[in-house]
Amino acid sequence: MLTDDLRVKLVRQALAARKRAYAPYSHYPVGAALLTASGRIYKGANIENAAYPVTICAERVAVFKAVSEGERDFVAVAVVTTNGGSPCGSCRQVLAEFGLDTVVLIAHKDGQIVLETTVRDLLPGAFRPGDLVRES
Ligand code: THU
Repeated sequence: MLTDDLRVKLVRQALAARKRAYAPYSHYPVGAALLTASGRIYKGANIENAAYPVTICAERVAVFKAVSEGERDFVAVAVVTTNGGSPCGSCRQVLAEFGLDTVVLIAHKDGQIVLETTVRDLLPGAFRPGDLVRES
């Protein structure tokens, strides 16, 4: 369980991150703030591209920033969108790689939390590292 203070802090950081979104095509800026077990917060924003499919979501930017800095233990991620939209399937899969217990806060652009859930609940039956077996 997160404290109220932590919820507010994470949503504020995700709102700040959302200001840096590069979303000239969708006009749907997204911000994410990922809290690690070490207590650091990694922010991410969606970054679109004229070649649409290479766009990357805010959540994955935050995760990749954290992992590339040596962090793999995640406590919670706050995601802020215009309308409280939910993390996409690819982002759920990327989050699931690092743990199913990560809390996910989904908030509206006014900062209101519309859902508090976990990666486990967002991606039932996730394919995880332990599912990989090698054929000899
Ligand atoms: N987007 C995110 O950043 N996160 C999600 O989980 C859903 C979608 C972005 C991608 C794209 O830049 C825009 O929102 C519209 O799909």
